[in-house]
Formats: sequence, C-alpha cells, structure tokens
Amino acid sequence: MAFLDKHKAIETHATLLLVLSFLVVTIGGLVQIVPLFYLENTIEDVQGVRPYTPLELAGRDIYIREGCYGCHSQMIRPMRDEVERYGHYSLAAESKYDHPFQWGSKRTGPDLARVGGRYSDEWHQDHFYDAKSVVPESVMPPYGFLFGKEIDGRYIQDVVETHRFVGVPYSDEMVENAQADFLAQANPDADSAGLEERYGDAAFGNAVNVRNFDGQPEVTEADALIAYMQVLGTMVDFSTFTPDASR
Ligand code: HEC
Repeated sequence: MAFLDKHKAIETHATLLLVLSFLVVTIGGLVQIVPLFYLENTIEDVQGVRPYTPLELAGRDIYIREGCYGCHSQMIRPMRDEVERYGHYSLAAESKYDHPFQWGSKRTGPDLARVGGRYSDEWHQDHFYDAKSVVPESVMPPYGFLFGKEIDGRYIQDVVETHRFVGVPYSDEMVENAQADFLAQANPDADSAGLEERYGDAAFGNAVNVRNFDGQPEVTEADALIAYMQVLGTMVDFSTFTPDASR
C-alpha cells in the first residue's frame, strides 16, 4: 500500500524517526498537561474538612516517623468490598491538607482512612502497648514507648507554619496559638475555648476531640498519635454529603 511505503521512509531513517517521535510525544504531552493549568481546582470542596489541629499534626508526624504507612493505607477505593468494610470511599478533599499524603500502597494491617471513632481511646492504648492483647493474631509491633515520651509542643508552631507555607490555610491566630492549642487538646481541664473556636464547630461544623487520649497525666507522643487516629475520616458528614455532579 502506498501509505505504508511512505511509512517505510520513516522507519529506515533513524533521525527522522526520532524527530517525528519527539514531535508526536510533545503534542500528546501538551494536550494532557496544558488544560491542567486552566482548571481552577481539581479538588471538590467538601463541608467539614479542616486543617489538622497542632496535636493531630504532631500525631501525624509520629505516624510518618514510625513508618505506620508501611503496613497501613489511608485510601478507601470505591469498590464494594472496600466500602462495605471501611465505609464511604475516600474523597480527594479528605487528604487535601495532608503533606505528604498517606494513601500508602501496602496493607499488612487494615486501611485507617476511617478509623476515627471506631474504637475507644482505651482500645488504642491497649493496642499500641501490645496489639496481641486485643487482637491475638496481630503482627503489629508494640509501641508502648510512645507513652513514656513526653512532648510539650515546643516546635509545633514551626510545623504549623511550614504546613501553611505549602498551602494549608492556617490563620495567623492558628499559628500564634499553636503551642497553647497543642497542650489544651490533650487536657480536659485546660481552657480549650480558643482551640474550639479555631478548629471546632463554629469554624468547620465539627467538634474537636478534647480529652486525655493516653490516660496519663503528661502529654505524650501517645496522646498525639491517638488524637490523630481519632480524627481520621471523621471530618465529612456522609449522612448529608452528596457528590457534586456538575464536575
Ligand atoms: C508490621 C506491620 C504493622 C505496622 C508497622 C503497624 N501496624 Fe497497625 N496493624 C497491623 C495489623 C496486621 C493490624 C490488624 C490486627 C490488629 O488490629 O492488630 C493492625 C491494626 C491497626 C489498627 C486497628 C485498625 C482497625 O480498623 O482495626 C490501628 C489503629 C493501627 N494498626 C495503627 C497503627 C499505627 C498508628 C502504626 C504506627 C505507629 C501501626 N499501626 C503500625 C500491622 C502493622
């Protein structure tokens, strides 16, 4: 065929093939990439999603430091078995303040995207001390040492500021009060009105968990990690959520 004969010219000239391939890939790339710059937003805003409180943020850092993502994902896929086991599939908005995201790629343990509120703090305490005490066949390592590591939030303002730098909308007030909010969240006797006002019902439509998460008088890494566990997947109210069909 005449058409194939012409193609032969391309196949037998390496340089021509290279130049034309480059051209085709360039056009393909532009078609894919350029429109992305004109999209205002690729993430649907969802009511209730708020930046992590300073204590939750510290817990998230401990989660990353301990490599929990090596055994746990935080991304419920929209497939029936997953949705029945874990709850509503994960929305992009739910991890929009995660830097870096914790979707994970390995599930030695279950997905944690909606673990918030599923267990009591006491369950988490027992589980982190010794997972086998509550789930006898568990292979999860013990994390009892977290309960002995006191933290005072001395650097948390820098952490919050850094997250603001990469795009999380922390207000000036949130940054200024980061350490106070950090300490108030783990102490049910503290004055947590400021924390509530900044992260709570009035601002985002959800109450903030304020309590002694680790069951000890001191604020420890266990407080931060359990506070983080307990907020995961709880920000969006799925009894009222409807996906925006216009997108
Ligand atoms: C070696 C793999 C491994 C690592 C590392 C690991 N886990 Fe687990 N995790 C598991 C397994 C397996 C289970 C299921 C059995 C159980 O509940 O203990 C589990 C269960 C859990 C559960 C209960 C989930 C549910 O829905 O029942 C939570 C919460 C949890 N892990 C948190 C963590 C956190 C936080 C870390 C890091 C500090 C961590 N895990 C590190 C393997 C791991």
